[in-house]
Amino acid sequence: MDQRTLISVPDINQKTKTFTVKGQEIEKQYHYMEQIRSRNDEFYAQNLRKRTYEVRNFGCQMNEHDAEKLRGMLNEMGYIPAEDGNTADLVVFNTCCVRENAEEKVFGHLGAMKKYKRMNNDMIIAVCGCMTEQEHVVKEIKQKYKNVDLVFGTHNLHRFPELLYKCIIDNTHVYEISRTEGEVAEGMPVLRESNIKSWVTIMYGCNNFCSYCIVPYVRGRERSRDSKDILEEILKLEKEGVKEVTLLGQNVNSYGLDRNDGMNFAGLLKLICQNTGIPRIRFMTSHPKDLSDELIEVMAEYKSICNQLHLPVQSGSTKILKDMNRKYTKEKYIELEKVREKIPDIAISTDIIVGFPGETEEDFNETMSLVRSVRFDMAYTFIYSKRTGTPAAKHPDQIPEETVKDRFDRLLELQNSISREINETFKGKTVEVLVEGTSRTSEERYTGRTEGNKIVNFTSDKDLTGKLVNVNIDCVQTWSLYGNAVSG
Ligand code: SAH
Ligand code: SF4
Ligand code: F3S
Repeated sequence: MDQRTLISVPDINQKTKTFTVKGQEIEKQYHYMEQIRSRNDEFYAQNLRKRTYEVRNFGCQMNEHDAEKLRGMLNEMGYIPAEDGNTADLVVFNTCCVRENAEEKVFGHLGAMKKYKRMNNDMIIAVCGCMTEQEHVVKEIKQKYKNVDLVFGTHNLHRFPELLYKCIIDNTHVYEISRTEGEVAEGMPVLRESNIKSWVTIMYGCNNFCSYCIVPYVRGRERSRDSKDILEEILKLEKEGVKEVTLLGQNVNSYGLDRNDGMNFAGLLKLICQNTGIPRIRFMTSHPKDLSDELIEVMAEYKSICNQLHLPVQSGSTKILKDMNRKYTKEKYIELEKVREKIPDIAISTDIIVGFPGETEEDFNETMSLVRSVRFDMAYTFIYSKRTGTPAAKHPDQIPEETVKDRFDRLLELQNSISREINETFKGKTVEVLVEGTSRTSEERYTGRTEGNKIVNFTSDKDLTGKLVNVNIDCVQTWSLYGNAVSG
């Protein structure tokens, strides 16, 4: 019997009131950042090298953006990025627990770090992110990974400077997992990876409790940021030359429901489009149960909102959807295709879980038929992973591994052929691409994305990084398009 428990069992109906952490609490963190910076300056004066850091990131875009916040704080504290993470003065593991393999990977890394820590006793190892919001993980770290100095959670990310200071000054282990519900911190530094495309979190947490998913337990209840703070951040990004902003949230369609200030997601999009000149706005993720006509209207009305929708379906079987607690049927999902009537060239992508407990061959075939009928541009397919503490983990009918693997392969093959067929229709067409830089495989080729989020690799005699350019497509593959920039 598995004795692991989550840190707290949340009340699904619990309503939280969102409040913004600004002012004194944030000033206090800046004070700690300054203290650590002066220690690091002293270290530089004595050793003629700066202290280094690495943030090792696991998980979704939300976590990637959290990593940018961690890097922002570390930069403010006078650390510089390490060339080799294994010998950095400070290594932060920003973790994910959505599937078991994500957790295993982190423990593997932590084990491997024992050797490096022995080689450099002054090295500090910190672990944060979704994994640490589970009690059994913190217990395991305390018992088996004494090389980890600092553990904090997703709710107190902004307190990293204070916790790190405590860890350094007291020369002790610090474990702080707070479950203060309803907090949204504003005004902490961010060191963004790109100055062309930026993420902006509009809300934190999730209230949906899909029966397989651990996110609501580790990220807490939905908290939306004040629309004024969001707009201010986007205006700043625009000034810095950012061309594309992706609004992030576990379920962006329920933005604002926790605030009662009259602003919903469609309203927020309008506010952003009317008050900024950012050429491309994207958002993710949308939950099918909350996709409103109002949102579709706004998407159709404003050119800067990309014609792209990530709408995870998870399964094509109404029975499984019910067991997943998704709150829509196969038919209702297919109906959402009406978005194509309003926005004909919209690219739709999805997430699908294969092998949810109780999934029969018939259920799986319903998923296959839905995929054939909707024809997604792209699907992220996952093998169901049992997450302790979630209702689905207790389901008696877990599916054997070979059956799941076989279904997974069949689904992947189908989706790949559809993605390829859709890409074929781009041959000979001209698409607008936001250029991100040279391609990973060749310095002579540039890479970027279309409005529908398709990767385009192309040749050009000029460096067009950061620009929106037209590209003629002459060749396609399953995952990307190839072509040449149209001159002039
Ligand atoms: N909030 C988003 C996505 C969150 S997690 C949404 O609801 O769409 C990203 C994806 O991970 C999910 O869409 C789901 O397909 C997958 N996922 C979540 N829990 C999982 C589990 N226990 N096993 C396998 N895949 C899972
Ligand atoms: Fe998980 Fe469902 Fe929330 Fe997405 S909507 S984060 S799948 S509980
Ligand atoms: Fe994201 Fe993984 Fe957490 S998917 S929200 S980092 S559990």
